[in-house]
Amino acid sequence: ADFESLKRRPPVVTIMGHVDHGKTTLLDSIRKTKVAQGEAGGITQHIGAYHVDVDHAGTSHQIVFLDTPGHEAFTAMRARGTRVTDIAILVVAADDGVRPQTIEAISHAKAAEVPLIVAINKVDKETANPDRVKQELMEHGLVPEEWGGDTIMVPVSALSGENLDSLLEMIVLVAEIEDLQANPDRLARGTVIEANLDKARGPVATLLIQNGTLRVGDSLVAGPILGKVKAMLDDRLKRVQVAGPSFAVEVLGLNDVPAAGDEFEVYSDEKTARAVADKRMLEQRQSRLQQSMA
Ligand code: GTP
Ligand code: NA
Ligand code: MG
Repeated sequence: ADFESLKRRPPVVTIMGHVDHGKTTLLDSIRKTKVAQGEAGGITQHIGAYHVDVDHAGTSHQIVFLDTPGHEAFTAMRARGTRVTDIAILVVAADDGVRPQTIEAISHAKAAEVPLIVAINKVDKETANPDRVKQELMEHGLVPEEWGGDTIMVPVSALSGENLDSLLEMIVLVAEIEDLQANPDRLARGTVIEANLDKARGPVATLLIQNGTLRVGDSLVAGPILGKVKAMLDDRLKRVQVAGPSFAVEVLGLNDVPAAGDEFEVYSDEKTARAVADKRMLEQRQSRLQQSMA
């Protein structure tokens, strides 16, 4: 057996919900209050993931939020059966209620068997009606705790910041129940969150580390792409040498641009990594050839 030293890891959280219900504002607001608090120089450009510290019951807890613009990467990952999210936050605007993408998000979370926390947003609005939202959510199988069910629903205002601390505390509580673990002592593996070709820096990929620790100098394969980590940047674009479980970092040093949703894995040496990448590349070419001949 392999005796892995499993340790607690931060939850990876995704925000879902209908158009204009406030997903981006909510993330911005959490980031601003939490990131700006401890950061000289304030907010910097994001890398598609935010690391947030939350103080709860005298301890500091980390939460990693994944920003999934257009849910593209998320959809690609779902199609491949990759699970990157530990907890889903469903944002429902209190003045608009349950809408088609709300229902879609509920079924995604159910299919992925990811715990769901509802943020009933825009409660600052005069036309807000949180109880109506709860009633509508009940029709889709989500019964609020205060009505005898087991779905946590937190009324918030992403705009004013009202009750965001409660939402963050609920995330910490759910994460503790989930008892999320990983082994920081092994070679890293995880998923490509996003990737692009930067004119100056070459291929740049945001990698979510799901197990192990990623280090500068590591040889890895992302999808069919070979790489050697030249530099890593955290969510504040600060250079880091190592990144552990649940963290997302921007990585330089890949030979080409992998696809969002591709899995990556670190190998013990460059030669092994190269052999894996060559094999993947060949398989990919073969399947493309087969498709073109079919
Ligand atoms: P898409 O990414 O386009 O799906 O939208 P979104 O869900 O990210 O919503 P976004 O954060 O862009 O917010 C849409 C609008 O609602 C913006 O005008 C926000 O200012 C407003 N808004 C978001 N949260 C609140 C809130 O808590 N209260 C009020 N009054 N307005 C809000
Ligand atoms: Na919007
Ligand atoms: Mg948005």
